[in-house]
Amino acid sequence: MQNFVFNIPTRVHFGKGEVRALEEELEGRTKKVLIVTGQGSVKKYGIFDNVVETLKKAGISYVELSGIKPNPRLKSVYKGIEICRKESVDFILAVGGGSVIDTSKAIAAGTRYEGDVWDFFVKNIPCAAALPLGSVLTLAATGSEMNSYAVITKEDEERKLAFGSPFVKPVFSILDPEYTYTVNKYHTAAGVADIMAHVFEEYFSQPSSAYVQDRMAEALLRVCIRYGPRACEKPRDYEARANIMWASSLALNGLLGEGKSGDWACHSIEHEISAIYDISHGVGLAIIVPNWMKHVLSSETLEKFVEYGINTWGIEKKKKDIDIANASIEKTREFFNSLGLPSKLSKVNVAADRFKDMARAAIKTHPQVGSFKKLSEKDIIQILTESF
Ligand code: NZQ
Ligand code: ZN
Repeated sequence: MQNFVFNIPTRVHFGKGEVRALEEELEGRTKKVLIVTGQGSVKKYGIFDNVVETLKKAGISYVELSGIKPNPRLKSVYKGIEICRKESVDFILAVGGGSVIDTSKAIAAGTRYEGDVWDFFVKNIPCAAALPLGSVLTLAATGSEMNSYAVITKEDEERKLAFGSPFVKPVFSILDPEYTYTVNKYHTAAGVADIMAHVFEEYFSQPSSAYVQDRMAEALLRVCIRYGPRACEKPRDYEARANIMWASSLALNGLLGEGKSGDWACHSIEHEISAIYDISHGVGLAIIVPNWMKHVLSSETLEKFVEYGINTWGIEKKKKDIDIANASIEKTREFFNSLGLPSKLSKVNVAADRFKDMARAAIKTHPQVGSFKKLSEKDIIQILTESF
């Protein structure tokens, strides 16, 4: 296992009605909050009202930035920075899914930075300060509620990039599974695929001696396999929503990834797809992941796929190793299909004529694409073609 520092300063308030914790979290900490929301769901389903009532009770004033789109755009970040400066905002509260939380993180960092916030994404300039932020999570998927990353799209350049800093880890996150009851089947399934993809990126990686992380990874995968279909079919099933929600946070808060060199090839490829075609991140991953698995399966990686097949899917140990590995990949593909997710890029209106651009951009953005198996431009084009 590699050396690591594990530090999650995010206080998690988990469960029904936990929005009430906003009062104790914000009282005395802030004079003016920026509430960031998406394109209307939190207002439609009453979550925004719950938040505002609590703020009013605590005598905290607020301003709003609404309309954040999925695959959030840099121009919304600029708008938020402008509001924070003009209104002397001293705390940001994200109420929504990953797109809203990521936008809030970028605003938090950008407000305290004299240059262009995009520098953090393209120039790798370390962020030295940020406004504090908290989140009220409404969709289980990204883990942004408990991690240091933000992913933002610069539309005119078709670039979707990530940045990370300990300064943008939420100081608290409120996880009420009931707030996810209204997430439709498509986004619930996409969220489950994203959670599983985070686990895969950390599981299919070196070194194999991180036994603790790998067994926890398999446990989270089994949670998704058990509760993902249930959350899709019965949106108001508290047990299913609660387990999926907690799995989303644990899948990308460092618990599985620290002590290992994550692979992240599927994410690198998917970000290039959604940068151009604006598809749901989890949907892109559900299409790419099984084809990436097929592509990287070799005599060097076989053992890990066997481990995956036996421990996650319960495939019989007696079978030949290669059959176990292939069966585990087919089970992954079938599982995503069973959630109603598309299995081909052509089904989500992605055209094949941009594959070369995507592969080039992925290679340009990342010093290395993949660590479990390093991918070349040609490999990426092949995976995209196999996913078409
Ligand atoms: O915009 P609204 O109206 O809120 O609707 C949203 C949106 O249409 C809807 N939704 C959210 N909560 C809801 C709800 N609908 C009904 N009831 C609710 N309670 O769901 C749709 C998708 O929302 P979004 O926030 O875009 O989804 P997600 O949480 O999957 O976030 C995806 C973004 O996060 C990035 C992705 O690339 C993508 O841009 N990622 C962020 C990561 C991170 N910060 O660590 C890591 C991930 O790998 C990922 O890259
Ligand atoms: Zn993801």
